[in-house]
Amino acid sequence: MNTSEVRIVEVGPRDGLQNEKTLLPPDVKIALIDRLSTTGLKTIEATSFVSPRWVPQLADAEEVFRKIRKVPGVGYPVLVPNEQGYRLARAAGATEVSVFTAASEAFNRANINATIAESLVRFQPVLEHAKSEGVKIRGYVSTALGCPYQGDVPVADVVRVAKSLYDMGCYEISLGDTIGVGTPMKARAMLHAVAQEVPMHALAVHFHDTYGQALANIMACLDEGVRVVDSAVSGTGGCPYAKGATGNVASEDVVYMLHGIGMQTGIDLDLLVATGAWLSAQLNKPTASRVTKARTAA
Ligand code: HMG
Ligand code: MG
Repeated sequence: MNTSEVRIVEVGPRDGLQNEKTLLPPDVKIALIDRLSTTGLKTIEATSFVSPRWVPQLADAEEVFRKIRKVPGVGYPVLVPNEQGYRLARAAGATEVSVFTAASEAFNRANINATIAESLVRFQPVLEHAKSEGVKIRGYVSTALGCPYQGDVPVADVVRVAKSLYDMGCYEISLGDTIGVGTPMKARAMLHAVAQEVPMHALAVHFHDTYGQALANIMACLDEGVRVVDSAVSGTGGCPYAKGATGNVASEDVVYMLHGIGMQTGIDLDLLVATGAWLSAQLNKPTASRVTKARTAA
C-alpha cells in the first residue's frame, strides 16, 4: 500500500446497527450494504454471528449475509465470538471473519462472558479452521484506551492481547477505543507501543466519538504510521455492553479529512454522503456525520 493510501473498514452495518434502538428489517440492511458496495469501499463489515439473545439487532445475520451483493474486490468480514459463530458464518458463505476480545477483564466478561485468556482459547479452533479453509481472520482489541468498568487500561495489556491475536494468525489487529475516551497523544502512544510487537501494516484503529476526539485521534495515529481506519457511515454505532459509548466516527468525516490532507481512499465522498443521509432517514434520526449534515442541509 502506498503511504498516502488509507483503507477504510466500514463497520456501520455491524457496529453501527448492533446498538440501534430502531430495528431495521433485513431488506434495509441489505440495501445499506449494497449501497456501500458502490462507494469504492474495499472492506465492509456486514454483520455478526453472535448469540441473538445477546445482540437481537443482528439476529438476521444469515439472511443479510446471504442476500447482499458481493462485489468482486470488496471484502465482507463478519464478527464471530466462537466456533459456533464461525460455522454459521461459513455456512452463510463468509470468507472473512473477525474475532474480538478486550484489554480489560471486566469488559470482556460483560461483552462475551469470558476472561481474556478464555476468549483466546475459544478463538484457537476458529483460527485453525480459518487457516485450513483459506478464510481471512481479523482480531479486535476493545477498551484499548479505557474501560467502562475498570477505567484506565494499562498500555502493556493492550500490547499483550494484540500480540497474542497476531501470533495466533490474525492478519490485522484493530485497536478499539470502545467508549471513545481517548485523546490524541494517548492514542498515539498506545499505537506506538503496540507497533513495537505487531507490524504497523497489520494494525488498524477503531475510534468511537463519544468525547468528540475521534478525528484528532485518527490524525495522531496517521502521523504514527497507521493506514487502516475503522469508521461507520452516518456515525452510528456503540457496543450494547459498553454503557455510555456513542457512535463510531463517521466514515464521511474521516474520508473528507483524509482527502483534505492529500490521502487517497478510493471512496466517492458524494456517494458515501448520499448513503449516510439515506441511512439516517431509515433510522429516523439525524445523522451524526458533520459532513453529511453540511452537504444535505436544506
Ligand atoms: P454465553 O451465554 O456465555 O454462551 O454467551 P454459551 O456458549 O453458554 O451459549 C448460550 C446460548 O447462545 C446457546 O443457546 C448457544 O447455542 C447460543 P441456547 O442453547 O441457550 O439456546 N450461542 C450462539 N448463537 C448464535 N451464534 C453464536 C452463538 N454462540 C452461542 N455464535 C457469547 C457467549 C459469546 C455467545 C455471547 O456473549 C455473545 O454472543 N456476545 C456477543 C456480544 C457482542 O456481539 N458485542 C458487540 C460486539 S463487540 C464490539 O462492538 C466492540 C468492537 O466494535 C471494537 C470496539 O469498539 O472496541 C468490535
Ligand atoms: Mg466498536
